[in-house]
Amino acid sequence: MTKKIFIKSYGCQMNVYDAERMAELMDAEGYEQTENMDEADMVVLNTCHIREKAAEKVYSELGRVRLNKQKRETKGKETIIAVAGCVAQAEGQEIIKRAPIVDMVIGPQSYQNLPAVLKEFQLSKKPIVEIEFPEEDKFAKLTQLKAASPSTFLTVQEGCDKFCTFCVVPYTRGAEYSRPVEQIVTDAKKLIGQGVKELTLLGQNVNAYHRQGLDGQDWSLAKLLDELSKLSGLQRLRYTTSHPNDMQDDLIEAHRDNELLMPYLHLPFQSGSDKILKAMNRRHTRQEYIDLVDRIRQARPDMALSTDIIVGFPGETDQDFEDTMNLVETIGYASAYSFKYSPRPGTPGAEMEDQIEEQVKKDRLSLLQKQLTKQQKTFNQSKIGQEMPVLLEKPGRHAGQLIGRSPFLQAVHLDGQDANIGDMVMVKVTEATLNSLQAVMKPSSLTATTAA
Ligand code: SAH
Ligand code: SF4
Ligand code: F3S
Repeated sequence: MTKKIFIKSYGCQMNVYDAERMAELMDAEGYEQTENMDEADMVVLNTCHIREKAAEKVYSELGRVRLNKQKRETKGKETIIAVAGCVAQAEGQEIIKRAPIVDMVIGPQSYQNLPAVLKEFQLSKKPIVEIEFPEEDKFAKLTQLKAASPSTFLTVQEGCDKFCTFCVVPYTRGAEYSRPVEQIVTDAKKLIGQGVKELTLLGQNVNAYHRQGLDGQDWSLAKLLDELSKLSGLQRLRYTTSHPNDMQDDLIEAHRDNELLMPYLHLPFQSGSDKILKAMNRRHTRQEYIDLVDRIRQARPDMALSTDIIVGFPGETDQDFEDTMNLVETIGYASAYSFKYSPRPGTPGAEMEDQIEEQVKKDRLSLLQKQLTKQQKTFNQSKIGQEMPVLLEKPGRHAGQLIGRSPFLQAVHLDGQDANIGDMVMVKVTEATLNSLQAVMKPSSLTATTAA
């Protein structure tokens, strides 16, 4: 009988990507993926350490996993439990101390060895912690790449050397690393061969990408995007997440010149106050960010912008928070993620004086989110009546409904239209809500397959 594996992922898109790769590795070992923990012979929690709440979720989930394991034991069934991802990396052995039911702790730079670690555990029956950063090329072992959708992620860069004072990523994901161009092109071709039309290049600092290219020169992200845009069958390119300081001129120009590159950019600014930006070690000022956005919009006037913002970083005064609100007003965002500052063990921010009271953080976040929601609604409504290509990605909740994405990453709903998942169709937007657009297909719009 085939064995079953249950994998649950928390946190960012890179974790989603890693979880898919773990599923492929385990599939090769005869483990079929299940959505139902009760029938799982192995449970993997792929965790996130970015904020306290995210990290604590692991332990509450492990409580549930424990009950499930006990229930299965009464039926004579064994359950192997692994904790992967950034909490694994950050807490290591601690996890087993706090939750002794955990059999394996495996970090984001070691999970390519999950099958080997599992075999070792099955022999020794002793908990294993695997969180070194090995020298080997992890991606060389992650070559199966099964595309789950016409729009798919592809990791091109990992890790971070920036050390923003609030952030755990440089500690959990390790040093900045760019994958070889040839390897990325091979992976892209493999995905396109399975019907993928849109690739989102992933990296914690994706626009810091640089690596020797096919001509022996040092290639930037813009050059990589250029190369990928030549691949036949590919229709759209995106990338995320970008740091303002790595937004080089050639990447800005690519938004003008590369026809596959979509007019959407996630560009976190974190705070609108220069004092706080400095304390965060962001290495850019408020004005530099504004000027950068100006240049991006000159290259691509219809660019939709998104961002990440933190409120309540240590020392943030009412005036600093006003500066953040005011920067949001100045730029105008199509969407945004905003968070209350969460002190993380081992980061400089956690040691700073003037930590902000929880209630103040809450009030500021709620004011900020009100404004961001308003902007998002306005942005979506500005698209009513417009025509645009939409890549259909999945069925909707109602019969005959299809859901796709606009060039600006908005979810677009189509009802009762004659089209299929994977089609690029021309639509006219008829309605807009906070989180999605409603649209109808233009007649003979399937021609957009080549024109988009
Ligand atoms: N690499 C990306 C972001 C990675 S983390 C970048 O450089 O922008 C995603 C977001 O989580 C960050 O942009 C930040 O807004 C938020 N974040 C990170 N650490 C945090 C903390 N300690 N408390 C609250 N939010 C945090
Ligand atoms: Fe974290 Fe800053 Fe690196 Fe982004 S750039 S991953 S926020 S340290
Ligand atoms: Fe979380 Fe790690 Fe991603 S901390 S946000 S899963 S890089």
